[in-house]
Amino acid sequence: MIDRLLQTRDLSDGELASLLSTDEYDGELARSADMVRRGVYGKDVYIRGLIEFSNYCKNDCLYCGIRHGNSTVKRYRLSSEQILSCCEEGYGLGFRTFVLQGGEDPYYDDGLMCGIVSRIKDMFSDCAVTLSLGERPRESYQALFDSGADRYLLRHETADEGHYRRLHPESMSLRNRKECLWNLKEIGYQVGAGFMVGSPYQTISNIVSDIRFLQELRPDMIGIGPYITHGGTPFRDFPSGSLELSLRVLSVIRLMFPYALIPATTALGTIAPDGREQGLAHGANVVMPNLSPVGVRKLYELYEDKICTGEEAAECRFCLDRRVTGAGYGIAVDRGDVKREREAIMPV
Ligand code: 5AD
Ligand code: FES
Repeated sequence: MIDRLLQTRDLSDGELASLLSTDEYDGELARSADMVRRGVYGKDVYIRGLIEFSNYCKNDCLYCGIRHGNSTVKRYRLSSEQILSCCEEGYGLGFRTFVLQGGEDPYYDDGLMCGIVSRIKDMFSDCAVTLSLGERPRESYQALFDSGADRYLLRHETADEGHYRRLHPESMSLRNRKECLWNLKEIGYQVGAGFMVGSPYQTISNIVSDIRFLQELRPDMIGIGPYITHGGTPFRDFPSGSLELSLRVLSVIRLMFPYALIPATTALGTIAPDGREQGLAHGANVVMPNLSPVGVRKLYELYEDKICTGEEAAECRFCLDRRVTGAGYGIAVDRGDVKREREAIMPV
């Protein structure tokens, strides 16, 4: 089955479901995923400096620790100057992509956000700016793109309507989420979608639907991480997702999307001490360490026990270097744009 997946980059729904439901193929899956990733990206691991600039959020996603309804969270916002100084520090550490991520916070309107993006692009013209600001109107995405933003991360969270309803409040819709992703793509962003593994009520067939949606959207970036329970949410009694299934999903996705940029997520590193290294060995080729000021790190708590909340940016950078090298890869000081078919190192 894995040979055929390698050749055709696809399987039937039933085959995908059975591949995801057993540990029988785990070794072979990981080896194949790593081979495919090395064929396209070699040993390179791209780093993204993550700046979590606001933990205010108007939404109430049931799984998320910074949901509007969690009144125990101390809220913060970073100023333009604070964000720029994070970039400055990051640039010195070799980051050539900055990811600005926040809750859905209307305080950062288009005027403010476009100003921040264009100042970063003016100061660091060899860097890419990735935004992760949630759902906004198409005109807003366009204005941000025109100000210089290169990429946008918006996980679809689940492609199944019924499952989506159980994870989100009435005010949100899968239809709108998907429309945002299509708009971003049409505007010309490099787009990232993705989902959590092991979120409450998720079934294997939901994961198959997620993969089908990814095949339709063809995103440049795919974020996959385990769901991790947070005590301040209505899902406090649900278990977290497993490392094994997260890695299995990651490998299958690498085999189906040889060119995608796939992060070894912080959530993977949170559920296992070597989770990110394992993510790399299972097909991931990106890591996104935190560049936010240490004073606010703990406050951006989407899930519990998040790693790297006490370390300065430089400490994380060097720690990651050791981890990535130890896992047999190397960090590239590069914007790390997505490669398209013809640029592959070896034909895949
Ligand atoms: N566990 C793991 N990932 C989470 N996210 C939000 N809450 C959690 C959680 N409890 C993910 C979502 C979101 C991304 C920024 O973080 O998929 O899109
Ligand atoms: Fe942050 Fe290791 S990567 S401390």
